[in-house]
Amino acid sequence: MAGILAERPDARVLVATGSTPMGLYAELARRRAGGALDPSRITVYQLDEYAGIPPEDPRSLLGWLVRSFVEPLGIPLERLVPVPRDGDPDACARYDLEVDRAGGYDLAILGIGPNGHLGFNEPPSDADAPTRLVELAPETIRANAAYWGSPDLVPRRAVTVGMRGLLAARTILLLASGAHKRDIVRRALRGPVTPEVPASLLQRAADVRVFLDRDAWGEP
Ligand code: F6R
Repeated sequence: MAGILAERPDARVLVATGSTPMGLYAELARRRAGGALDPSRITVYQLDEYAGIPPEDPRSLLGWLVRSFVEPLGIPLERLVPVPRDGDPDACARYDLEVDRAGGYDLAILGIGPNGHLGFNEPPSDADAPTRLVELAPETIRANAAYWGSPDLVPRRAVTVGMRGLLAARTILLLASGAHKRDIVRRALRGPVTPEVPASLLQRAADVRVFLDRDAWGEP
């Protein structure tokens, strides 16, 4: 990622939250603090948000993005583009149009959900799914409970950048760690390409780089 940002200091970067990329973000912040990296000119696009959750709510994914990525990397808040958090269809369509007009994303940093979701593109999600309001899948609610302490605290709906936009990113980094991701990582990378496993659609994307720890790939 540091290499990509060095080549394209004004990159448009689509950025996930969740636990997986936190080590990456901390390492980028460390390099920035040491003067080895200057990401201050990138534009950050939020990948997803719980529907209707305002930035001041502790569960706000925008707040998480600001604390873990935008601030530690010295990116001015004016260059953070949130998803339309109320999921209004017109606002979502305008958002996609503006991203297209700007030239699409240069880089997408993605994790993978236990059901193969990317962002909150829950199964089934087609390759041309737009940015939109979605119902979270039961597996996602269970997995997200780990962030907030209980499934009851996980909002039931979310807004996600669509498959169409993220699959068109010039470069995609997919990160996964832990044995609990092994099965879904195999299905995504080696299984049939199907909307039932949205991450399997990455097999058709132009430039995907996958970073796994041993537990997420090793033999059971
Ligand atoms: C978060 C997001 C999700 C997560 C995925 C994995 O913004 O888009 O798709 O990347 O649910 O979450 P973790 O990394 O917590 O296992």
